[in-house]
Amino acid sequence: MKNTKFIVVALFFCGAVWSQEARKTRAAIDAKVSELLSKMTLEEKVGQMTQITVTVFEDAQKPGYFDAAKLKKGIQEYHIGSILNVPNPGAPTLQRWQETMTAITNEANKSRLKIPVLYGIDAIHGASYTAGATLFPQQIGLAATFNTELVKRGAEISAYETRASSIPWVFSPDLDFPRNPAWSRMWESFGEDAYLSSKMAVALVDGFEGSNVGSKYSVASCMKHYIGYGSTTTGKDRTPSIIPERILRQYDLTIYQAAIKAGAKSVMVSSGEINGTPVHSSKHLITDILKKELGFEGVVVTDWKDIIYLNTRHKIAATKRDAVRIAVMAGIDMSMVPEEFTFYTDLVDLVQKGEVPMSRIDDAVTRILRMKFELNLFQNTVANLKDYPKFGSAEHIQEAYKTAAESITLLKNNDAVLPLNKEEKILVTGATANSMKNLNGGWSYTWQGENADTYAADKLTILEAFQAKLGKENVLYTAGADIEKEDDAEIQKAVELAQKASKIVLCLGEKNYTETPGDISNLYMSKSQIKLALALSKVNKPIILVLNEGRPRLISDFEDKMSAVVQCYLPGNEGGRALVDILYGEVNPSGRLPYNYPRYPNSLEKYNRKHTESLADEEQNNDAKYEKSYSPQFEFGTGLSYTTFTYSNLKIDKTEITNTDEIKVTVEVTNSGKRAGKESVLLYLSDHYASITPEVKALKRFEKISLEPNETKMVKFTLNQKDLQFVNEDLKWISEKGTFTIQIANLKKDFLLQ
Ligand code: BGC
Repeated sequence: MKNTKFIVVALFFCGAVWSQEARKTRAAIDAKVSELLSKMTLEEKVGQMTQITVTVFEDAQKPGYFDAAKLKKGIQEYHIGSILNVPNPGAPTLQRWQETMTAITNEANKSRLKIPVLYGIDAIHGASYTAGATLFPQQIGLAATFNTELVKRGAEISAYETRASSIPWVFSPDLDFPRNPAWSRMWESFGEDAYLSSKMAVALVDGFEGSNVGSKYSVASCMKHYIGYGSTTTGKDRTPSIIPERILRQYDLTIYQAAIKAGAKSVMVSSGEINGTPVHSSKHLITDILKKELGFEGVVVTDWKDIIYLNTRHKIAATKRDAVRIAVMAGIDMSMVPEEFTFYTDLVDLVQKGEVPMSRIDDAVTRILRMKFELNLFQNTVANLKDYPKFGSAEHIQEAYKTAAESITLLKNNDAVLPLNKEEKILVTGATANSMKNLNGGWSYTWQGENADTYAADKLTILEAFQAKLGKENVLYTAGADIEKEDDAEIQKAVELAQKASKIVLCLGEKNYTETPGDISNLYMSKSQIKLALALSKVNKPIILVLNEGRPRLISDFEDKMSAVVQCYLPGNEGGRALVDILYGEVNPSGRLPYNYPRYPNSLEKYNRKHTESLADEEQNNDAKYEKSYSPQFEFGTGLSYTTFTYSNLKIDKTEITNTDEIKVTVEVTNSGKRAGKESVLLYLSDHYASITPEVKALKRFEKISLEPNETKMVKFTLNQKDLQFVNEDLKWISEKGTFTIQIANLKKDFLLQ
């Protein structure tokens, strides 16, 4: 009874308002799950909790193909419930995926209970491990669109193309909340704002899972990496984080809460530690907060090898066996072991010796089986390719193009140097100008994305997009620099070509990377690229700097010498075309920066900083010896257009409210320029005084609108009580009486909470 009560309350709080039909479906699935569970042996149950990487089953002589005996052993002897990752050498075709899943399914069908194997994949910007799939911008670019509808549509396409690949489960969205911009997975996140991240998280979960996750066009999502993973102190991957629980609740946790409410089916745990506790060992974070407090009913999977790492890296367990006990008791449901079967043997032994209770195993297996039933895997695991005529189609590609176009962010445009005109002679140069690797980044065809130029040979790099528009002979090009190696001869070549050009498009950025291989110790743009920028700046031709990077590499050494700056992040396969269309004004840019672009490595303040983070700026007024402290190169939300937008008539329906009232806000936005354009309208709120120091301002709402020249639209927002609240020292969400300021563009209105 107590349990039922708890579930009802939890469902209420996690906002899952269930229709009668949904309740019936759920009851039917629950009945099937308990029936199946009751027939299972301990070994079969523990097998369900075991996830192995596909290459373990490969034929050593024939990469990419199964060794039938190895697959049989995994499924019949260890009863494995899940497989992940991509067969060698990466990115199989739809047909190869179909053959792979057929082999797995045939083997699973020979087992006693015929439980289907759940296949999971890092399809994080489209079905990025399938040859010929539509590849979208990476998540940081999605955030920059500030367009949740577009992002949701992209996730639907990604789900469609992933299921076409016979894979029902994606390790996405990434809900990390980076606090150090050097982090090598910054670009896998939605940037520095928790509200923007929550909205984007919901858009992705909705798009992936649809109204019926069991449909052949939907996939189960996996929120990752719960929690605090992106907030390492050093900025290096998988290093420790220090995050007080108050902060964790006010920011990081809200993103998960939103995605859980949207129905996210699974979650992957962070490889990191918070305040000295590896998250994989934290009962407090996994069982008490995630499962009980947030009412999360889905599957909790570990990240790669992370139970073993409790022993070998974190050193909180003296043996692998003890690591298994700790993680399972903390609340882990599935172990991404993934290259051996020790988790299975250790856990069977732990249960047999009474060190892990069967109730914990049953909880985990119930969650896993429920997901398998919800995904309809008992009916079907292998895609019928005839059902997917739109895989990689022009329609899907157009959506990826639109998304890339809406993500690209114009940060600076002195003297309207952009848009370019087709008569001008342009020099295209820079280390990222001619490669699909830079446009896609990691998790593209392979883990690090190093083979994107082969897999996406038919797609246009930035240079090729210029050539397609202007004719090959009309574009001057030389690489000018390598990302790492200095090359004076190349610089000289670029400088010579620059004399013949009227403008220079300088493409700088980063190599393809993710995780530890992407760690850096120096946030500045690489030396070889800075050298090229400085050399070109001496030619005295306008330079358009195109940034093609996963994180904001500092450009303060030369930014003042650039006439325009365009951030294209990692825009995916259609990014080259979208960028060049923007540079020529065929598309009006509308992206906005989802983080503060730092100017200096010792000044990494976020836009929603505390007032005391810029003390020197107050003093500076009186005394010139103080350096400016809050001076990002470009602030969160920056994004220019080729037209202008004028804001007027900011109104609120009440100037005094009680702690039950909502407040309605309206503002008028006019396209006061000559081109049609899109504008993201951002509403910020500032609490004047609070017992926990208030942020200078925080984003509370946004909406993207389209406006023809001279057109005016009224944008309406409603703020509720939650928007006025913060987490206090007792870890409770509260609001306090006093004045708040609403800010939209340059307009402000105050109201009083009584
Ligand atoms: C990454 C995860 C990823 C997993 C499976 C890990 O190394 O941290 O984000 O989903 O591998 O490929």
